[in-house]
Amino acid sequence: MESNDVVRGFVRDAYKLAVEGNTGCCGGDSKGTVVHWAGYDEDILSTLPDEVVNNAFGCGNPLAFSEVKPGEVVLDLGSGAGIDLLLASRIVGPEGKVIGVDMTDEMIEKARQNIAADGAINIDVRKGIIEELPVEDGSVDWVISNCVINLSPEKDRVFAEIARVLKPGGRMQVSDLVAVDLPGYVKENQFLRNTCIAGAISEEEYVAGLQEVGMTDASVLERIRYDASQVKGLLDSERYNVDTGSSCGCGCGVGAEGLAGEALERAIRDLTGKVWSAKIHARKPE
Ligand SMILES: C[S@@+](CC[C@H](N)C(=O)[O-])C[C@H]1O[C@@H](n2cnc3c(N)ncnc32)[C@H](O)[C@@H]1O
Repeated sequence: MESNDVVRGFVRDAYKLAVEGNTGCCGGDSKGTVVHWAGYDEDILSTLPDEVVNNAFGCGNPLAFSEVKPGEVVLDLGSGAGIDLLLASRIVGPEGKVIGVDMTDEMIEKARQNIAADGAINIDVRKGIIEELPVEDGSVDWVISNCVINLSPEKDRVFAEIARVLKPGGRMQVSDLVAVDLPGYVKENQFLRNTCIAGAISEEEYVAGLQEVGMTDASVLERIRYDASQVKGLLDSERYNVDTGSSCGCGCGVGAEGLAGEALERAIRDLTGKVWSAKIHARKPE
């Protein structure tokens, strides 16, 4: 059994390759595809720097219908290249603040470049893991996240951290991949973890994990279902990465071989209908 730090290292390596290369992940079969499946308004996307949109690896739009208000503090777990940081920044305005936490240096660098290109002044990107957030107790109004918590090998710690950093009455709204009845070979595959599938838990486990740490009103607000071609987009490892010279999707990296041929076809059959994107909401009691 690999240690949790080793699993995080594999995930970090995969996202380093993803941001440096031209492949997609977590819902897209090429960079920049996923964002168009995720429920963002295309007119709003057109106002963001291209490098933000091309490096968006989420599976939903956690801010949609979130009721985030000007002046509030928003924390984004696994903020990546910064798409939801920039969108949150526009909502909270100059009186508010947005904090991003990510563990991958190359993602943090990309986010900082994107923030500079956008001109936002109220965003602070911090290096850290979501299982041990570099954020003060009771200091944020909202925790958002987009296709990240599934990647954690210690979701109980992530849920406890969400409860710790929220102000009393603060809210969480995350988009994430969830799954039911994943075959054993899927759960053990590091490539499939990196592509946001193998580590996905069910909606019921999500809600129970949040209740366990004292969050209330935990519920699923919205779902995005994937057909077989979209599941193939999640899994396809045969894409050529021009920058790294490797023939592999973003899930690849140290410790992860991509799927091809019959193994890929089998996984598409086994996963269609069993994995989808859910928007999950919860509140910390007053
Ligand atoms: C699928 S990408 C999503 C990025 C971003 N939320 C978006 O929508 O584009 C996952 C991101 O989470 C980060 N990540 C994964 N596991 C993490 C962990 N345990 N702690 C901190 N960051 C993590 C990765 O470095 C990567 O930037």
